Amino acid sequence: MKNLIQLTGVSKTFHNGQEEVSALKNINLTLEQQDYLAIVGPSGAGKSTLLHIMGGLDMPSKGSISSSDKDIYVMKESERALWRNKVVGFVFQFYHLIEELNVLENVAVSALRESRKSAFKKAEKLLEYLEIAGRKNFFPSQLSGGEKQKVALARALINEPEIILCDEPTGNLDKYSQDRVVELFEKLNKEKAKTVVIVTHNLELAKRAKKVIILKNGEIVR
Ligand SMILES: Nc1ncnc2c1ncn2[C@@H]1O[C@H](COP(=O)(O)OP(=O)(O)O)[C@@H](O)[C@H]1O
Ligand SMILES: [Mg+2]
Repeated sequence: MKNLIQLTGVSKTFHNGQEEVSALKNINLTLEQQDYLAIVGPSGAGKSTLLHIMGGLDMPSKGSISSSDKDIYVMKESERALWRNKVVGFVFQFYHLIEELNVLENVAVSALRESRKSAFKKAEKLLEYLEIAGRKNFFPSQLSGGEKQKVALARALINEPEIILCDEPTGNLDKYSQDRVVELFEKLNKEKAKTVVIVTHNLELAKRAKKVIILKNGEIVR
């Protein structure tokens, strides 16, 4: 199996004024193609930080992250952005939708390198699958938390990334929508051989992953 992402001795320290927060401590982790990993742990454990670093969004203070044997933080920012766009689909804990764009545009925007028509068609299909197509002309401020979550998911999936990184992807969803999202992850993982990483508080969701790690105080405790 192909090693998609490898973290070696990764630490992250934040400086908040006088205070130093050690958010991650010496993390070693390998993601292979078709892995399905859940990361659980209490708030403040470093889960989001780990996901961001894994996805090329935040530089580690120490250690390295490589993808297909290339260190992604040695790449130039523009090269890393290209890698991210091609390889990684990211669902942020707080969605990060673009307020000035409607739902359909928010989803289509990262696929606009292809033809405009195909980007919008794909976006529409994903919105239909997630049963949110009825809101396609709405703006983010007009959506509920669960609806925003679905839009963020659709946006992460539009480029058919090899790796899907999701921060609390079901946190705001009702049981029915949670099940749809879980089904979607399983389908992408099994049928399309995608690698899925989810940060979750939802133990039911975590149990359905192939591998679970528990993060506490910036360390993998299991
Ligand atoms: N940008 C930041 N600046 C300063 N401290 C941060 C920043 N991001 C996270 N932290 C700190 O790092 C620790 C881990 O945060 P986070 O990764 O968000 O945890 P989790 O997602 O598990 O709740 C927390 O103590 C948090 O306050
Ligand atoms: Mg978090």
